[in-house]
Amino acid sequence: MASSRMRTPLGGAVVLITGAASGIGKEMAEGAAHRGAKHVIVWDIEEEGGEIAASEIRSFGANATYYRVDLTDPDDVAAVGKRVLAEHGRVDVLINNAGIVTGKDFLDLTEEEIARTFDINALALYRTTRVFLPGMIERGKGSVTTIASAAGLLGVARQTDYSASKFAAVGFTESLRAELRHHGNPLHTLIVHPYYTNTRMFDGVKSRVSALLPILDTEEVAARILDAIEAGNQSLVMPRFAATIRLMKCLPVPVLDRVTDLFGIHSTMDEFVGHSGKRGDSQ
Ligand SMILES: NC(=O)c1ccc[n+]([C@@H]2O[C@H](COP(=O)([O-])OP(=O)(O)OC[C@H]3O[C@@H](n4cnc5c(N)ncnc54)[C@H](O)[C@@H]3O)[C@@H](O)[C@H]2O)c1
Repeated sequence: MASSRMRTPLGGAVVLITGAASGIGKEMAEGAAHRGAKHVIVWDIEEEGGEIAASEIRSFGANATYYRVDLTDPDDVAAVGKRVLAEHGRVDVLINNAGIVTGKDFLDLTEEEIARTFDINALALYRTTRVFLPGMIERGKGSVTTIASAAGLLGVARQTDYSASKFAAVGFTESLRAELRHHGNPLHTLIVHPYYTNTRMFDGVKSRVSALLPILDTEEVAARILDAIEAGNQSLVMPRFAATIRLMKCLPVPVLDRVTDLFGIHSTMDEFVGHSGKRGDSQ
């Protein structure tokens, strides 16, 4: 079995971040460049935001390139991944960050919405990691980070699709870590569980106990993820209080339900509008 802690300095690394045209991904891209990454590769379906993210990084003298990619299309991911490897030689740090949320009650979800959520939040992890992991294994170093969510620790009302897709992301990362260790591959994996963060993705959500569970700041979340990669940490829950969810889940279900009601967890999405700015229409 490989050793359990593998530090990955970002200085000199080729870093690829999915969903880096906005939000946490964009902040991480800038942060990685500031920490001396050799090249930052911005992957996103949004061309304008992706170009802006990469050019902002280049404006302070670092190297960055935007590639348009649709993570729901396995052929596109494979083809664009091949181009990245041909043009940059390797990817040392892969951050699977892209994600979407519908924010709808279960019975209001269409089959397409559910499938799209799983496609981007869960299946895309397999597609991107499949492209870049072989090179990491060959070189005996590399890091794969998955941005899950606090909703990947606890199911939340109006998140039957989102929460389940994030549980899948957790299972993917945990199994990948186990498999790499089992085969003696000393690569780093990190699973991240942020609580609500002030990007546009969860616009409108309200934290009911903001002293314990504040809405997080995007810049700070991004910095803490990069710190965790550099330190070789394998799990990151933000804020720290959210880690108590793991203990709470040992409680009998009716008690757990009472506790989560006390914290107002299941009413946080009541005023959710998301990217669209309109109730019940987040995409
Ligand atoms: N914002 C929060 O409150 C919060 C909380 C916990 C976890 N997260 C997770 O953090 C990650 C980043 O979220 P964010 O808040 O920065 O959201 P965001 O909406 O700002 O960023 C997501 C990015 O993913 C891109 N994307 C969506 N579909 C894509 C596709 N098919 N192909 C390529 N790119 C695609 C979008 O264009 C966007 O730039 C997500 O995985 C999200 O689930 C966010």
